[in-house]
Amino acid sequence: MRLDKFMSQCGVGTRSEVKKILKTGCVTINGIVAGDGKQQVKENEDVVCCQGRPLTYEAFEYYMFHKPAGCVCANRDAVHETVFSYVPMNARGDLFTVGRLDLDTEGLLLITNDGIFAHHLLSPGKHVEKCYLAHLNQPATPEDVLRFAQGIDIGEQHRTKPAQLSIDPTDGTKVRITIAEGMYHQVKRMMHACGKEVIYLKRLTMGAFVLDESLALGAYRKFTEREMDYVTEYKSSYL
Ligand code: URA
Repeated sequence: MRLDKFMSQCGVGTRSEVKKILKTGCVTINGIVAGDGKQQVKENEDVVCCQGRPLTYEAFEYYMFHKPAGCVCANRDAVHETVFSYVPMNARGDLFTVGRLDLDTEGLLLITNDGIFAHHLLSPGKHVEKCYLAHLNQPATPEDVLRFAQGIDIGEQHRTKPAQLSIDPTDGTKVRITIAEGMYHQVKRMMHACGKEVIYLKRLTMGAFVLDESLALGAYRKFTEREMDYVTEYKSSYL
């Protein structure tokens, strides 16, 4: 593989950024300074260092992102910021979000380039649970809890699958909702069918993944070792 492509795939930067870095002479291949991006490297044999730091080639990348409101889950958008304006690691341009959150929804968003992992989390047959915190324009009621448990007609061919609604005992306008599907605007439409509007929505969990509350809004990080174990477990269908 070409050195510039290798460096870009290791997340050093875009090809043009890599070109500039190479010009500074801070990149070595097996201890010898490399100046030309066209040079060939064997990604699993050669030791490539940038500013003395060895680069490791990772075929797959996994990030947890704390999505703020006001950005869309798309690679490009003519009007709004996209999640990728917050994730400059997308140097090779193959990252995508595992599912979508609405423009005004905050919270847990997983970003990867591993399609098989994403499939295991998104496929309807896998029933992966997602938990949301919602603030409503009026208090939820025990009847709403029952309706959620029975599944709700939101104008689709079938009712939603049974979902859990739990009401904050000190403030009925704050609820937690757990669903195992991912229909368009599903949480908002389920609440709307109960006569309430969602005025704030935040995703807290997706399957085994829990939003790392130490991540500020708009921040992201690589998966931890434990989360990488979940990836392996999902891909072997143990989870
Ligand atoms: N349900 C919604 O209504 N919006 C989201 O962003 C996610 C789930």
